[in-house]
Amino acid sequence: MSLPPVIAIDGPTASGKGTVASLVAQKLGFHYLDSGALYRLVALASEKEGIDTQKGPELSLLVPKLLISFKNNQIILNGSDVTEAIRTESIGLRASVVAAHPEVRLALVDLQRSFRQLPGLVADGRDMASVIFPDAILKVFLTATAAARAERRYKQLIAKGISAKLEDLLQDLQARDARDSNRGAAPLVIAEGAKVLETSDLSIDQAVKTVLDWYQSAIA
Ligand code: CDP
Repeated sequence: MSLPPVIAIDGPTASGKGTVASLVAQKLGFHYLDSGALYRLVALASEKEGIDTQKGPELSLLVPKLLISFKNNQIILNGSDVTEAIRTESIGLRASVVAAHPEVRLALVDLQRSFRQLPGLVADGRDMASVIFPDAILKVFLTATAAARAERRYKQLIAKGISAKLEDLLQDLQARDARDSNRGAAPLVIAEGAKVLETSDLSIDQAVKTVLDWYQSAIA
């Protein structure tokens, strides 16, 4: 019996992959996996428990202890609503440090694959196409220039009432790109067979439509 179809959407920070992936999932009635949220949850838990971000094996032992549920756009960790708490820039940066440890990545593999359920899954992250779902029916690498991504992140934060500086965001984003691309374990790469979607000059609707068109061609 064949497994439910997966659309893998990978890309650098603030490329809009989360927004595009969740809209594509909605349109198709598919499940949605925000794999970055899992790394952010490990980052948050490690901060709460005072675990050093350099200690891969210790960090990985946290994973089986995390009781995570995604419900109505809320993320609950061990009984607390952490939806907002995991979205800060500092947790994002901490997540990229935590995510560089192969032990942490390995500990999260089964959890990520458990999201693959009928009628299908849209998964977003860095290694969805290369490592977690190498048999994805469609692989998309969604990207935009660093300047466009910093501007998007800036608008997102301001809209939430969080103060931010564009230059600081650009610097953080470049640091995160470098760490995600240069690490040994599952670096951010354009997977073999992935289609590149450059979104600097595309609206969200245009990006979503392109992915849906590609999916229709892939299953035809
Ligand atoms: O929203 P943003 O793209 O800034 O980050 P995210 O997707 O929530 O992921 C946070 C961090 O987790 C990234 O900077 C990556 O280092 C890491 N990550 C990863 O290594 N592999 C994934 N599949 C997803 C996220």
